[in-house]
Amino acid sequence: SEDALVVFTPSGRRGHFPIGTPVLKAARALGVDIDSVCGGRGICGRCQIQVSEGSFSKHGIVSSAENLTAFNEVEARYKSKKSMRDERRLSCQALLEGNVVIDVPADSQVHRQVVRKRAEVRDIKLDPAIRLHYVEVEEPDMHKPTGDLERLRRALEDQWGLKELECDLRILQSLQKSLRDGKWKVTVAVHRAQVITAIWPGFHDRVFGLAVDVGSTTIAAHLCSLRTGEVVASSGIMNPQIRFGEDLMSRVSYAMMNPGGDKEMTQAVRDGLNVLVAEVCKEADILPSEILNAAFVGNPIMHHLLLGIDPTELGGAPFALTLNSGLTIWATEMGLEINEDARIYVLPCIAGHVGADTAGVILSETPYLSDDIVLVVDVGTNAELVLGNKDRLLAASSPTGPAFEGAQISCGQRAAPGAIERLRIDPDTLEPRYKVIGCDLWSNEDGFDQAIRRIGVTGICGSGVIEALGEMFLAGILVTDGTIDGAMAAKSPRIQADGRTFSYLIREGEPEIRITQNDVRAIQLAKAALYAGARLLMDHLEIDTVDRIVLAGAFGSHIDVKYAMILGMIPDCDLSKVASAGNAAGTGARIALLNQKARDEIEDVVRRVEKIETAVEPKFQAHFIEAMGLPHTTAPYPMLAA
Ligand code: FES
Repeated sequence: SEDALVVFTPSGRRGHFPIGTPVLKAARALGVDIDSVCGGRGICGRCQIQVSEGSFSKHGIVSSAENLTAFNEVEARYKSKKSMRDERRLSCQALLEGNVVIDVPADSQVHRQVVRKRAEVRDIKLDPAIRLHYVEVEEPDMHKPTGDLERLRRALEDQWGLKELECDLRILQSLQKSLRDGKWKVTVAVHRAQVITAIWPGFHDRVFGLAVDVGSTTIAAHLCSLRTGEVVASSGIMNPQIRFGEDLMSRVSYAMMNPGGDKEMTQAVRDGLNVLVAEVCKEADILPSEILNAAFVGNPIMHHLLLGIDPTELGGAPFALTLNSGLTIWATEMGLEINEDARIYVLPCIAGHVGADTAGVILSETPYLSDDIVLVVDVGTNAELVLGNKDRLLAASSPTGPAFEGAQISCGQRAAPGAIERLRIDPDTLEPRYKVIGCDLWSNEDGFDQAIRRIGVTGICGSGVIEALGEMFLAGILVTDGTIDGAMAAKSPRIQADGRTFSYLIREGEPEIRITQNDVRAIQLAKAALYAGARLLMDHLEIDTVDRIVLAGAFGSHIDVKYAMILGMIPDCDLSKVASAGNAAGTGARIALLNQKARDEIEDVVRRVEKIETAVEPKFQAHFIEAMGLPHTTAPYPMLAA
């Protein structure tokens, strides 16, 4: 019999097959990645390919669309019902007639690359924990008595090679009806090639997942199509636990002081999550029951409360976690109102102060794959620090307190409309100009007064404070030890006596906005803690400089990295090697949602991370005191001078 040579692009895999072989079968034999939900029945349309026209002398073959058979009935029916581009064919139906070069478009690949967002270093390869499989099940026969489940399992093994699948009880409860409603054709969802977690009569093609970052202030969720990896809706809400305490420690104390307090907080965060689920489902126009998988990140206290675990142990030394491995549970165990049989994956925590959010940051920024020594800083109420490269990775948390979030600052506020977020000071006149969240104009631009009337200027947020201090330092208003220089009062009326110290007036009126000496001290303490933590990790690695710095988190993405350097929040580093990563923890959750192997990867990395406890390191205090100066009392900042 005659053979045809087939070459697949972009993989370049090639082989000879008998004339009449389905293209999909040839692809499978060569290990070419082509998607399928219907198992080659011409229903799902996932297996589309395209013939590359022309002669490929390199391969000695002449490729043309005629080297595949004409449309058969099944393919013609598919084309008439669903739209398929003219140059496309269903690879499960088209048969080889001669030599041919076949292009597998990205949307037909199972392991396609998910479209990357700005600021994401890592490509996400689609490999979700949930896969859909359409099967035709044998009808029951009185002469060969076997259960419906046994026949379903046999079909899944024969048609999909899935062996020894387990099955959730709830699926069994609807199995008989689904099989009969579907006339012995059903689609099942299989979790990690192990457990049947959903069943639909007939062909079913929609499946979604949820990636959630549970922060102590805000909870953010991305709803993703597990078919394409695309984010189909995103939303965020305030963490309802705020009513039990603004910061983490006050929530732990609430649990300690009030019997059942942890349960209340667990309920609050879960209620909030269900509001969020309803929101994203509405936005994407899907049913919550179509969400079959979820991935969660959060700091250790959020992690414990989310899981209904009392966080009291995390409130004091030795800060023992309940567990530091990842966890897969049922959505119902978390009271999450999505598909009842959905599985939820919670990323591993690293140490008592370094949580699953940091694991998410690590997964997204991949310092464990880097040759360079990378310092990753995630600033929230604490700063979580990760330092190292592919050989060694260290993690610690530094007690920065909430100053970077605008707390403990006299005119400080959260980053919200009305907050000053950018600020520049003219070095000659010492006059400020600033930008306010919710308004596009700088304060010295025409129309600012008019534009700002509606929202007002209500305070200054963390990034605004950092810029204000950096600019004050550059303008000589602040001196190296952090004192607001009273002598400057002679130069500008904005430097004003304030008791025995001085302050810098940014804006007159109601409310008046100024930077006081106490504000400067609060930021000095926070930044000294951050720097000392980084320095301690550098000591452990026995290095004096780092190759790259990544600032993660909302704060990191809002500040201009230059000012972080001017104030000495981070070690000296070439400014072009300092980058903001945005919500890297959330990206990590999305990666874990869309790629099951990433879950194994992060668990493995977390096991290898060396945990450094800043509280018990004697050198921390010394580093801390030295880091109080701007940018530092003793360490040189050669890069800054450059
Ligand atoms: Fe489903 Fe070809 S595999 S249409």
